[in-house]
Amino acid sequence: MTAHISDERIPNNVDLSGDKRLQRALEQWQPHFLDWWKEMGPEGFQGDDVYLRTAISVEPGGWAHFDYVKMPDYRWGIFLEPKEEGRTIHFGDHIGQPVWDEVPGELRNLLRRLIVTQGDTEPASVEQQRRLGHTAPSLYDLRNLFQVNVEEGRHLWAMVYLLQRYFGRDGREEAEGLLERRSGDQDRPRILGAFNEPTNHWLSFFMFTMFTDRDGKYQLSALSESGFDPLSRTCRFMLTEEAHHMFVGETGVGRIVERTVELMKKDPNEDARAQGGIDLQTIQKYLNLWYSVSLDLFGGEVSSNAAEAFAAGVKGRHKEATRFEDHTALGSVYSMEELEGGKVVKREVPMRNALNEVLRDDYVEDCQRGVDRWNKTIREAGIQFELALPSRRFHRAIGSFAEVRCDPSGNLVTDWDARQGEWLPNAEDEVYIKSLMHAVHEPGKIAQWIAPPRKGINGQPFAFDYVRRPE
Ligand SMILES: [Fe+2]
Ligand SMILES: [Fe+2]
Repeated sequence: MTAHISDERIPNNVDLSGDKRLQRALEQWQPHFLDWWKEMGPEGFQGDDVYLRTAISVEPGGWAHFDYVKMPDYRWGIFLEPKEEGRTIHFGDHIGQPVWDEVPGELRNLLRRLIVTQGDTEPASVEQQRRLGHTAPSLYDLRNLFQVNVEEGRHLWAMVYLLQRYFGRDGREEAEGLLERRSGDQDRPRILGAFNEPTNHWLSFFMFTMFTDRDGKYQLSALSESGFDPLSRTCRFMLTEEAHHMFVGETGVGRIVERTVELMKKDPNEDARAQGGIDLQTIQKYLNLWYSVSLDLFGGEVSSNAAEAFAAGVKGRHKEATRFEDHTALGSVYSMEELEGGKVVKREVPMRNALNEVLRDDYVEDCQRGVDRWNKTIREAGIQFELALPSRRFHRAIGSFAEVRCDPSGNLVTDWDARQGEWLPNAEDEVYIKSLMHAVHEPGKIAQWIAPPRKGINGQPFAFDYVRRPE
């Protein structure tokens, strides 16, 4: 196990060639993955040369290499952070015991469920985004979309490695299942709700990478604390890649906001739509949608599964090692909102059962920082409008507030059906947004509804030829 990544058929830093059985199993899975990629990956761009980053090492400084590559030739592989000798479990009921290099029998089902659930989100998002290339607002954005897509494919490899290496026949079956489910499919949908929502235009894509990929960051962060060492090491490297996805989302929405306020200032009625842009109210609606479906991904507020995973030392809190003093999370309580007889009440819950909510708190805070940056752009343009995260009670399908309907401020409402179109994208909004979506595939050009980025990728200018169409 080194930082260096081998140059084999499956690039890896886990000495794959030293484990012939596993190597064979993964080499059998590889063509199935490629078939899936060709069928469900970016539609219409498989022959393009894309300026992509590829992992060549897991060293923090020099892990990424940029060059043109056709997506089906991307070097998907297995990259784990190096093993830290003497690492011990640092939370839950087994504090101080050495971390596990194999799956403990009693944790097999729990770990398998966590890995499959995480793994399922990776190909799902590629499927959700597969047609977006046809309407990319610039070559820079087109390239970023494909970068996100190939890395989600890479994350699927990361999870499939764990399944095939540590879970025997069950793991091999799960690895096939990950290629068989389809986002939005009636009969065999992806596991989690947000990953079955269509992401069929770029406003949704940027909201998805801002809010839904950020859920991924927090899940990976919690799993990177794991006492199951291979899972921890895998997730630590995935987080390095994941940061770019959220950059794409946050700056994508930020650039839309930037253009919107510019267009508003040009218009006698501050009407961005009249100038061919996206109005702030509509941006707010898509924010409401993607933020609320992403909140659901953290699970119910009170969760015995979360308690079990923490007790077992399998899934910690975000930055468990450095941010907390009591790593047993025993003897403390968490005060949260719940619904009781149609009323919102405060309730104290034993900390371990509240860990979904604790992770959601960190996520909400992180989302708020992004929204603050967007609002700064609006404020500096002298426009009176603030984007806001809706209440956690708004538009929930999971947890205590799934049974009621609340407005974005969190007030219980009885006229949801009549009013939801004010708060969430309605059919007319969808038609309008889609009417703006036309491909701009010329270097240096950009669609009307979004501002160009401040900087290009890897020191290249915005006008760089990020995607070369085949002759
Ligand atoms: Fe991912
Ligand atoms: Fe991601």
